[in-house]
Order: sequence, then C-alpha cells, then structure tokens
Amino acid sequence: MTKQKIKKLSGTISLVGDKSISHRALILSSMSSGKSEISNLLESEDIMNTMNILKDLGIKIVKKERKWVVYGNGTNGFMQPKKALDCGNSGTTARLLLGAVSTNPIYCTFIGDKSLSNRPMRRITDYLERIGSKVSLTNKENLPLTIKGSNISLPLTHKMTKPSAQIKTAIILAALNISGETTIIEPRQTRDHTELLLKYLRVKYKNKKIISGGNKLTFNGPYEIKSKNIYIPGDPSSAAFIIVGALITPNSKIKLSNILLNKTRIAYLSILKKMGGKIKIKKTKIRSGEQLGTITVSSSSLKGITIPSGLSPYLIDEYPILSVAASRAKGITYMNGLDELRYKESDRIKSIVGMLKSFGIKTKTKKNDIKIYGSSSAEISCNSIVKVYSDHRIALSASILGIVSNNSVKLDDGGRSMATSYPNFKNDLKKIIKN
Ligand code: S3P
Repeated sequence: MTKQKIKKLSGTISLVGDKSISHRALILSSMSSGKSEISNLLESEDIMNTMNILKDLGIKIVKKERKWVVYGNGTNGFMQPKKALDCGNSGTTARLLLGAVSTNPIYCTFIGDKSLSNRPMRRITDYLERIGSKVSLTNKENLPLTIKGSNISLPLTHKMTKPSAQIKTAIILAALNISGETTIIEPRQTRDHTELLLKYLRVKYKNKKIISGGNKLTFNGPYEIKSKNIYIPGDPSSAAFIIVGALITPNSKIKLSNILLNKTRIAYLSILKKMGGKIKIKKTKIRSGEQLGTITVSSSSLKGITIPSGLSPYLIDEYPILSVAASRAKGITYMNGLDELRYKESDRIKSIVGMLKSFGIKTKTKKNDIKIYGSSSAEISCNSIVKVYSDHRIALSASILGIVSNNSVKLDDGGRSMATSYPNFKNDLKKIIKN
C-alpha cells in the first residue's frame, strides 16, 4: 500500500497525564477524607478501569468541566462491591487495588481480559496473605481471584524480592490502614510516585536509603489523609514514542512541554542520548510533588549500543520503542536481561521480535536477551500485517516505525489497543506530521 510522504515532525505538544500517577491519584484520593480535584488525569482505558472499580467500591467520582472530583471515604472506607471488579487489560489496576482493599473487611472478586488473566498475581497476594487476607487464585497464580480483606491486618516487615513498584505500592496501600509499623525493604529503587504523592498529601512515613541502592520505608498506621487537589504531569512513557519518532524522521524538531521528569522514569532518555540522540531536557516546576519539564528533540544519526541488564527495571515500559530506535541505528544494539518483559501485556520479547520482523529487520534472541541489527540508511517497508498481541506499546511502536516506512502499516487490531495508555496518539501525531 502506498502512503503520503512524511517530510518531517515539527511543532510543540503537551501530553496526556501520566498513567502510573493517574492510577495513584484516583486511589489515594478515594482513601483520603474529603473532596479532591484531579487535573490532567489520563482518560485511557486502564485508568477508567481503576475509576470504575473505585466507584464499585462505593466512591463517588464525577467529572466537572475538565477536572475529576473524587469524594474520598478514608483508608478503611471501601464498601462491599455488588459485582466482580473488572480490571480489563490493566495490571496496575489489579495489583494496586488488591493492596487497597486487603485491609477492608470486604469480599472482592477481581477479573480481567485474556492477557491480564495470564499475568502473575502471586507476587502481590503472597504479601497480602501474610498480613491476614484470604486469597483464592485461578491456577494458583492468575485472575479471576477472590480476596477477603481483614480489618485486623498485621503490621510486618516485608523484604521485596523483585524490583516492582506495583508490589511496593500494593503493600503501602495496605499499610495505610494497618495499626502499627509496616516496613518495606526494596533492595533496588523502583518508581516512587506513591511515596511522592503521599508526601505531597502530608502523610508521615520514614524513607531511608540502603547500601544496595534501594529503600527502607516505614509506615505507622492507620492514617487519616486529608484530601488535596492533584495535578498529573505528562506521561514520559507516552512521550517516548513521539521522541523516537522525531529522532528517526529526518529534518525533525519537536518540543514536548509539561512532561514528568521523575528520575525513575526517564532512564530511556539517557539511553537515546548515548545512541547519539539530540535531546535537551529542561526542568520547569514541581507540581503535586513531581518534577516537570520540557524536552526538545531533533532528528539524529543513531548508533547501536549495549543496554546493560542492570537498567532493565528503569526501562521496562520503553523497550518496545527503544527497539524501534535500535532498528534505525547504525550497528547492533544488545538489550540484555529482559526476563520481566515476558510478563507484561504480551510476552514482549516475542512481540518486539515479531514486530521488527514485519519490517524486515533482523534480530536474534538468546534466552531473555535481544540483539537488533540496525541500519540508519536502509529503506524499510512493512511486509505483513503487524501482530501486536493486543499490546498498546507494541501497536504504538509499530506506528512510529511506520513513519519512516515506504508503505502504510497495518496493525492486526487496527490500533485499538492504543486506547489502553495513549488514546490521543493519532491526534498528537497529526499535529506534528508535516507532509
Ligand atoms: C507500574 C510499574 C511497572 C510498569 C507498569 C506500571 C506502576 O511495573 O511496568 O507499566 O504504575 O507501578 P512493575 O512494578 O511490575 O515493574
């Protein structure tokens, strides 16, 4: 199929709200006492799943003009739901809300779509069972699951074995309603949006850095959180698609404003810079506890690099789009230690390799490592319908590679999965594509 030639990407855009912070803002406002207004909330399917479940748990949430108003019920205020709680495709919804309901005396059934029903849940429920919740999982690991929360949960010390912000947050949300001291030891730092938002909400807890580079967090509950208005910064993981688009499309220059610059989320910018990407980052202001800023990107000659496995927790959502940058870089890129990619919305090792193959790009995999043979000059065409495995980040990545492809790209889901995290993608791209 032929397509209209794209000359360049140029212009300024500000992006939809961050997905991780949108989940947390809705949940923590629901667990506060009083009314909170949330601005720039991401209105994607994952976030609507979290919102609808909170409503099923008795929380009133309404939209007023462009803000979402949440009427919080306190840390122990969730009501018995009348139906199963449907998390759709969203792992963050399931995992965070399991922690939030675990200290309320209610009985909940969590369900999800086909992809989510294959993703591991024991990583959360093992901790919740220790504090006193009764859990029953399908196949000892998956949704549908039932959880019976307890209002006399135990204050314990939890040592995390996986670097996962979802696990940490589930335990924190439980700790907010537990009498006594809950300690969480995370050997490696993971995204810290929950801690920053709690600090902004004036919740008192201790955070001590430990030698391994992680943190020891101590909560002394139960807490009463006073509601406060929350602003959600632009999503850096969604920005990554536009940024790589500008890097690989000749003559481009774009500016992204109001983007979240939290250190645990923008490691991919350092990787792209190391590959030769011309990227400028400017801090602007702090809002609701998070650093915001502007990112300017110009098209660049990229070169292949080795991405060490130690960085994988900080790049976890960006590997699909980094693979697109690698395919347009001179030389080989090695992405190592991608074990956790097997457990995302799709098996992302398989789906990245399949997506690149549809564009004729050579890759090799060995266990959980991917080797990508890039070329900065070769013309590329998409030679088959791209299988995206209903995975939003694969669909978005394939569309970006489609900008520099000779022909139009067809996704097997028609781009439907993009609504999971970036419903405005096509509109944003339209604003900066110059034919
Ligand atoms: C998220 C944490 C990450 C990330 C996911 C969102 C969060 O998962 O991949 O998209 O909001 O806490 P893990 O905590 O499992 O690494």
